[in-house]
Amino acid sequence: MKRVAIVCASIHHGNTNKLASVFAEELDAELLTVEEARGRSLSDYDLVGLGSGIYFGRHHQSLRLLVNSWDTPPRTVFLFSTAGLPFLRLAQHASLRRKLRKRGCRVISEFCCRGWDTVGPLWLFGGINRRHPDTRDLERARQFAQRLKTDALISDPKLSGK
Ligand SMILES: Cc1cc2nc3c(=O)[nH]c(=O)nc-3n(C[C@H](O)[C@H](O)[C@H](O)COP(=O)(O)O)c2cc1C
Repeated sequence: MKRVAIVCASIHHGNTNKLASVFAEELDAELLTVEEARGRSLSDYDLVGLGSGIYFGRHHQSLRLLVNSWDTPPRTVFLFSTAGLPFLRLAQHASLRRKLRKRGCRVISEFCCRGWDTVGPLWLFGGINRRHPDTRDLERARQFAQRLKTDALISDPKLSGK
């Protein structure tokens, strides 16, 4: 594995930052906020992870704007999120996935887990998914990152140095 960057927007409770830290550690990656990533060329990285909470059925708008702003998109990307309703991952990742594919990126894998959610009237009850991501979620994230390392090495000859 060569150079990896993780870009994360985590605005509600910092839930997604917890995943981003695990990925950064496991993949020996540079961890960036969207502000830090803006104006930088991510095409130099061999793998870029993009993640946020899910807000109104999609990733955070700042990530979509970041993808729009790229002159030269990175080649290989993975997506992650935390959500009140993580079983909707495929649908809720669709907007960013589609945008990335239009820009010519390969989206190699996706991860989503439960995140503490106190949106709207939920705060009255303390929210749903309290204490998530928890240690089991983070362990699953670690395993995902390990698989990603292997998959990225196998599926992209450039990464394996062949
Ligand atoms: C304004 C708002 C809208 C949300 N919309 C959704 C949604 O459409 N689907 C969903 O599964 N979760 C939704 N959530 C829950 C968040 O995705 C969840 O709490 C996530 O873990 C927040 O991540 P963060 O703390 O990293 O910002 C919403 C939360 C907020 C604050």
